[in-house]
Amino acid sequence: MKLFIYHTPELTPTDSTPDCAIVVDVLRATTTIATALDAGAEGVQAFSDIDELMQVSEKWPADRRIRVGERGGAMVEGCDMGNSPLNCTPEAVGGKRLFMTTTNGTRALKRVQAAPVVLTAALVNRQTVVRYLMTKMPETVWIVGSGWEGSFSLEDTVCAGAIADSFASEMGYPLDDLAGNDEVFGAIALYVQWREKLYELMNHASHGKRLIGLKCYDDLKYCSERDILEVLPMQTEPGVLTQSDVEVQSLQYWMEEPVTN
Ligand code: MLT
Repeated sequence: MKLFIYHTPELTPTDSTPDCAIVVDVLRATTTIATALDAGAEGVQAFSDIDELMQVSEKWPADRRIRVGERGGAMVEGCDMGNSPLNCTPEAVGGKRLFMTTTNGTRALKRVQAAPVVLTAALVNRQTVVRYLMTKMPETVWIVGSGWEGSFSLEDTVCAGAIADSFASEMGYPLDDLAGNDEVFGAIALYVQWREKLYELMNHASHGKRLIGLKCYDDLKYCSERDILEVLPMQTEPGVLTQSDVEVQSLQYWMEEPVTN
């Protein structure tokens, strides 16, 4: 397996696709996607454009849809919810489809949606994604951070490093064989430095500060928790993510062993 990490959608190559693409937006889109699917949402459909979201969701029964819209951290007018993962309780999202647009995360998803396998990862479901990679061993894997409006973000790169570090140490995979680009070493170094202080790191991150400004303290704390959900969000049609029960069942053997890294 060769792993490539790209810090932003803009840095992601446009002339090829990997066997497996993993989109990361720890604050907060991919944490929200993992939480919603774990809480029983039917699926999450991502849009980069709010008008398209409104048009497509209009065709869905009103009692089975939730429009999730975020720009600059705040809820978009006309939507039912902002992008807080803590809104995604089983009572609120169970059986419903979330139609979602966010500043960066949904753009990153669009960027790699042509890959044969597209997953989303956050710290909350990191372990399940690592187990998937250990079981399937795709030949080329890209982890794509969402960043913030084209710039690097600490939280996405630390999560990419957490995935790479865990996979390499669990498999005893030499980093020189695994790493497809230098970003892999950089992301692992960031994770190793902050692995016991992820919440502190979120508070240093520029989007973490933006969320603190919006009083989203609990979101920040929740998004920095690691390996608390056994959920594998997987694209089943372009832009639509569902919980892959079949895949998760095939990972049960691995899940019995705790991830230690
Ligand atoms: C994004 O896509 O930029 C976000 O998930 C921002 C947020 O809702 O905090």
